[in-house]
Amino acid sequence: MATVLVTGGAGYIGAHACRALAAAGHLPVCFDDFRTGWRDAVRFGPLVEGGLLDRAALDAAFATHRPEAVMHFAALSLVAESVAHPERYWRNNVGGTLNLLEAMRDAGVRRLVFSSTAAVYGEPDLALIPEHAPQRPTNPYGATKLAVERMIGDVGAAHGLRAVVFRYFNVAGAAADAEIGEQHRPETHLIPLVLDAALGRREAITMNGDDYPTPDGACVRDYLHVEDLADAHLLGLERLLSGGESLTVNLGVGRGYSVREVIERARAVTGRPIHARLGPRRAGDPARLVCDPSQALTDLGWRATRSNLDQMIADAWVWAQGPGYES
Ligand code: UFG
Repeated sequence: MATVLVTGGAGYIGAHACRALAAAGHLPVCFDDFRTGWRDAVRFGPLVEGGLLDRAALDAAFATHRPEAVMHFAALSLVAESVAHPERYWRNNVGGTLNLLEAMRDAGVRRLVFSSTAAVYGEPDLALIPEHAPQRPTNPYGATKLAVERMIGDVGAAHGLRAVVFRYFNVAGAAADAEIGEQHRPETHLIPLVLDAALGRREAITMNGDDYPTPDGACVRDYLHVEDLADAHLLGLERLLSGGESLTVNLGVGRGYSVREVIERARAVTGRPIHARLGPRRAGDPARLVCDPSQALTDLGWRATRSNLDQMIADAWVWAQGPGYES
């Protein structure tokens, strides 16, 4: 069983990865500066408090815990913020990962699972997006993730680092027992905001545009359960531990839902009236992003098993009403 340094391990996705690692018998060492992470989410292994821009903190984490591999989630990930403040994104996501890769090189750690995004594709006009689709990010967030992918490739070739890169579509849901779940400050993601409206924490959900070239005019996304995502990370880690080659794969379901459909399903799952109103388009939103997940099955033996939309909403609903939310 492996010791794994998990950057961003106190964030939504990182914490679910730590939970899955611990459940599989590995030791997740959480590396987080709590800028966007949650102290309550650190419960599956030791904590090193630090940020990626602090090389000394990274070196200390490697020296103290001697991890065999790294899972790298820590990043800024808001598209709108990346458009307003691109330099933050280049410094944190690209500069921070450069520090991490140098620290890994110096510590002799040569296995990496990296959290990338469908935003590297931009706005492809494809029903299902495969890995070989053109990579033309339309915002600085996607551009920084693509730059990191290339940096990992270059460093890997020079220093024998092997990496599994996952390009996620839209992640949703919470742990099956609601021990941990999704929360962001500020929250910008559709499902948590819809559930806030169901709970009366906000008056309504604003639908960002209804004039997209989609069947009902609303944006379409491919929603993936965070526990399915965590399982893929375990498979990626196991591939690297058993000597497997580097790999870049999409993680998604291959089925899209519109914003309207998500709101409708949330009304059905929660049994609450959810007031929706129409707002303007949100800058940088592609009309439709749906994954071709076939390569993840072929190369990793992974497919989504819990990513039914009602299930994801139901799990997020239990979490949103529980004691951990907004702690
Ligand atoms: N939406 C609304 N109203 C809201 C919030 C969202 O209509 O109040 C819409 C968005 O405009 C979008 C859809 O719901 O059409 C999904 O939006 P999310 O913010 O939940 O997700 P995104 O597709 O924008 O974002 C995802 C990831 C981001 C990542 C981005 C680009 O969650 O972290 O993909 O890959 F940056």
